[in-house]
Amino acid sequence: RTTAPTSIVVFGGTGDLAKRKLFPAFFNLFIDEWMPKQFQILALGRKQYTQEGFRAYVLENLKEFSRNNNYTEEQWMSFSEKITFLNFDITDENSFLNLNDKLTAFDVACNKRTNRLFYLSVAPSFIDKVSVNLHKTGLASNIEKDRIIIEKPFGYDKASAIALNKLLNENFKEEQIYRIDHYLGKETVQNILAFRFANTVFEPLWSNRHIESVQITVAEQVGVEDRGGYYDHSGALRDMIQNHLLQILCMVAMDAPVEFESALIRDKKAEILKAVRRIKPEDINHYTVRAQYTEGVIKGDAKQGYRQEPGVDPNSNTETFVAMKFYIDNPRWQGVPFYMRTGKSMEQKKSSVVVNFKDVPNKTFVNGRNNPVPNQLTINIQPEMDIRLSFMAKKPGLDMTLNPVEMVFDYFECAPDSPEAYETLLIDALDGDSTLFMRSDQVEEAWDIIATIQEEWENGTYSPMHTYAAGSWGPAAADELLSRQGHRWLSTT
Ligand code: BG6
Repeated sequence: RTTAPTSIVVFGGTGDLAKRKLFPAFFNLFIDEWMPKQFQILALGRKQYTQEGFRAYVLENLKEFSRNNNYTEEQWMSFSEKITFLNFDITDENSFLNLNDKLTAFDVACNKRTNRLFYLSVAPSFIDKVSVNLHKTGLASNIEKDRIIIEKPFGYDKASAIALNKLLNENFKEEQIYRIDHYLGKETVQNILAFRFANTVFEPLWSNRHIESVQITVAEQVGVEDRGGYYDHSGALRDMIQNHLLQILCMVAMDAPVEFESALIRDKKAEILKAVRRIKPEDINHYTVRAQYTEGVIKGDAKQGYRQEPGVDPNSNTETFVAMKFYIDNPRWQGVPFYMRTGKSMEQKKSSVVVNFKDVPNKTFVNGRNNPVPNQLTINIQPEMDIRLSFMAKKPGLDMTLNPVEMVFDYFECAPDSPEAYETLLIDALDGDSTLFMRSDQVEEAWDIIATIQEEWENGTYSPMHTYAAGSWGPAAADELLSRQGHRWLSTT
C-alpha cells in the first residue's frame, strides 16, 4: 500500500458526496491505518467556513454517515488537523494559485514532490473549467504522481462522453484518469471475480451450455429525494443501467484475464460491452420496459408519485424504472438472455445477480412428484450480502422425495464491518491501481449500448411509458418481458 505523502484535493468539498461518502471514507481509512503517514485534505468550496467551522461540519457528518463511530477523540483530532478548507472559485485563476501555494507548502514540509489526488466531485458543467485550469497551472502535471478522479455522470450520451474523454485527454494522460463507478468498489461485486476465477467448480458451468438466463436487479426503496432536478434530466437508463448495471454485467460475463492486472481485466470487460447486441429501434419495445412511479405506500408511509416530487416536471417523461433484456453475441453467451431491472421507490432495497441454470439433462427424477427445480446461484449485493446456491436434495425420510435446499456464504458472518465502496476505491486511487475504475473505451461502449434506446425513448413511437405504484416491484410489463420466454424475476419476494 502506498506510503507516499499525498495531498488530496476535493473539488466540491462542501457538496453532498463529500459529506456522505468521501470524508467518512477517508476517516475510516485513517482509523484503520490505510492512509499514508503524511497526507493533507484540501476541501474546496464556494461556501464560507472558518477552519474550525469546517472541521466541526465534517465531524457532524461523520457522526451521521460514517459506518464506524468507534473512534477516540485523539484519532479525530489528528485527522481533523489534516483538513484545510479553501474558499474556491473554479473560474478564478487566483483560486488555483492559492491552491498551488498549499500544495507547494506541503511538498516543502515533506521535503519532496508529493503525490496529488484531485477528486472532481463537481457538476458536469464544471469539469471543463477545472480540467483546463489544472492543466494550465501545471498542478497535475506529474504523470506518475498526480491522479484525477472523475465522478459520474460521465457524459449524457455517447457524443458527450466522447467529448468529455477528449477534453480530459487534452489535459491529462489516460493513466492519470480514474473514472469512478462506486458499484465496482462494493465488496460483493468485487467478489464476483474471486468467486468465478479462483474456483474450479463454477467456471466450467458458466456458459450457455448450462445457464438458462441471468438476472441483474438493482431495486431501490428511496425515490428521487431532493435530487429531482438532476434526476429528471437523467432517468434510470442513464443513472443506473449505463454504468452500475452494465459494470455488474461485465463482472458476471467477462472471460478470465490472464492475470489480475488492471489493463488485462479492463480489456476483458471492454470485450463484453462490445459483444452486447445492439437493439434496433423497431425492437425496443420488445426488449425494454420503461416506467414511472405513481403514488403508493412504502413501509406503511404514503409516497407521492414521481411527477409530484420537488424539482420534477409535472409532465415529465423521465423513467424511474427500466427492465430490459440483453444478449451477448460471443461463443460463451450466445442465446442466453441477460435480464436487468432497476427502479426507484420500489418495494424493497435489493440488489442481486441471479444465475438460473438449465433443467437437469436426465429424467431420473422427472415423475410428476419430484420435478427438480433448476439450480440457482444468487449473489446478493446489498443490503443482504451473501452468495446462495440452491440445489436439490433428498428430503430425509423413507421415500425418495426431493426438495430444494441452499448453501450459503454470508459476508456479515465473516466481516460484519466491511469497508464501504468508496474506501476501497479511494485507497486504490491513492495506490495508483486503476483496476476497478472505468477506462474511456468502456464508458463509450456502455453509452453505445443504450444509444438507440435513448433516442427511441426521446423521439420515437415504439415504447409506451408504463406506471407502477410506489412500493411495488414495477409494472406488469416487466414481468411480461420475462414470461414471454417462460422466465420470471427470481429475486422478487
Ligand atoms: C448513484 C445514482 O450512482 O447510485 C443514484 O445516481 C442511486 O440515483 C445510487 O441512488 C445507488 O447507490 P447505492 O450504493 O445506494 O446502491
